[in-house]
Amino acid sequence: MAGTGHKTVIVAIDQGTTSSRAIVFSPDMAVLAVAQQEFPQHFPASGWVEHDPEDIWTGVVTTVREALAKAGRTAAEVAGIGITNQRETVVVWDRASGKPIHRAIVWQDRRTSATCARLREEGHEALVQARTGLVIDPYFSGTKLAWILDEVPGARARAEAGELAFGTIDAFLLWRLTGSKVHATDATNASRTMLFDIHRGAWDEELCRLLRVPMAILPEVKDSACAFGTTDPALFGGAITIGGMAGDQQAATVGQACFRPGMMKSTYGTGCFALLNTGSEAVASRNKLLTTIAYQLGGKRTYALEGSIFVAGAAVQWLRDGLGIVKLAGETGALAAASDPNQEVILVPAFVGLGAPYWDADCRGAIFGLTRGTGPKEMARAALESVCFQTADLLGAMMADWPGAGGAGTVLRVDGGMVASDWTMQRLADLLDAPVDRPKVLETTALGAAYLAGLSQGVCPEPEVFAKGWALDHRFTPAMDGETRRLKLARWKDAVERTLTRR
Ligand code: G3P
Repeated sequence: MAGTGHKTVIVAIDQGTTSSRAIVFSPDMAVLAVAQQEFPQHFPASGWVEHDPEDIWTGVVTTVREALAKAGRTAAEVAGIGITNQRETVVVWDRASGKPIHRAIVWQDRRTSATCARLREEGHEALVQARTGLVIDPYFSGTKLAWILDEVPGARARAEAGELAFGTIDAFLLWRLTGSKVHATDATNASRTMLFDIHRGAWDEELCRLLRVPMAILPEVKDSACAFGTTDPALFGGAITIGGMAGDQQAATVGQACFRPGMMKSTYGTGCFALLNTGSEAVASRNKLLTTIAYQLGGKRTYALEGSIFVAGAAVQWLRDGLGIVKLAGETGALAAASDPNQEVILVPAFVGLGAPYWDADCRGAIFGLTRGTGPKEMARAALESVCFQTADLLGAMMADWPGAGGAGTVLRVDGGMVASDWTMQRLADLLDAPVDRPKVLETTALGAAYLAGLSQGVCPEPEVFAKGWALDHRFTPAMDGETRRLKLARWKDAVERTLTRR
């Protein structure tokens, strides 16, 4: 396709947990080209997960170049870049050389679980929840950052002297893309660090002291849609404005056009993350959900209640790579559909502990109800249902926390790899007893990032107009009878109770 010479297309960088992607969008938000690169995962000890930031960097630059080439566009035609990223993952680098001082510690990593237990025992949970909206868990960046400062010789002193920089992946990429000129993040990513006051929109001195994080290491926090900086012209053959940044789940919330309070989306990737827009009100959860920043536009923060599940698509990956039950993830739906309905096999996929609403970092996965007749079909159903059960837990907690989410109007907008499975989406609607809407455009995370960049660069319309473009592919309507649903949910609850280490 020939270029136009005008600044019309938008590039989204979607830096995820297992791959980096670049997507070129046309001005009307159609996908023109996609490039993707997987990168190695490092598991140096049980419960530890690391990425090499250099792998991430190389993958991002390569995929952006490849996607632009595929779309037949040059840097001069790009109105802006939007970055969206795996959240909470921590990078610390040397400001002078730009080199990371340790591998990135990934959001799934549990190495700081003892530190978190100590912080809870010391009674800091209420303070952390009040300021950050989070629970104390190794999932968030703060204790991981402190771990690097403790373990890398001389790091804390160097951080205090202003020689080191911390960032989640968005900030690390921004630093590299701008040729070491800009050290900044956006409010959504900052809200996942356990160091950020989500009400004031500022780093919190008291929490930094508590976690022993020198404030000199922290990036500047900006709106999700603004001119963050421009790329080093040598990278893509011309300077491009980085016009938007947001954590991937927040970008998906934007991409799903969940702009009104009460709207809710759930993304099924490695994990599953459900966000409920609560508008300008930061609702404090009484049911162990997270309060987070959905997006910040024009200095105005919009909040969300979030339920985070660590294993969703990863359960299907386990069926494929661990058990070898299927060759392709897409086969699991058909297998589950053919399973024996009389066998009640329940999988609690606590491979890395359980997230919301249980927050048990130390429990591990369990299977209940195995019989001599249990085979691949029942295992496939158990894996897919485990994702639906966990989503039901999240929605239950959301309704309890915020009555605005309840009532007959509750609809869940879904996206991510697993939503391609009709069987899973129908079972999800059945177990939630609520409609599940699958949109036509499934690239919602990248779309959200591209939209934020387009908005700041004046090529995309205001949110209300963008929202009109959201189109339904299929609505899954609940069809399970109430008694069956009640029994299934009770069996799941019982299985979880038996799996938890903290009851
Ligand atoms: O909070 C972690 C989340 O941002 C990771 O998302 O899509 O890379 O699994 P994903």
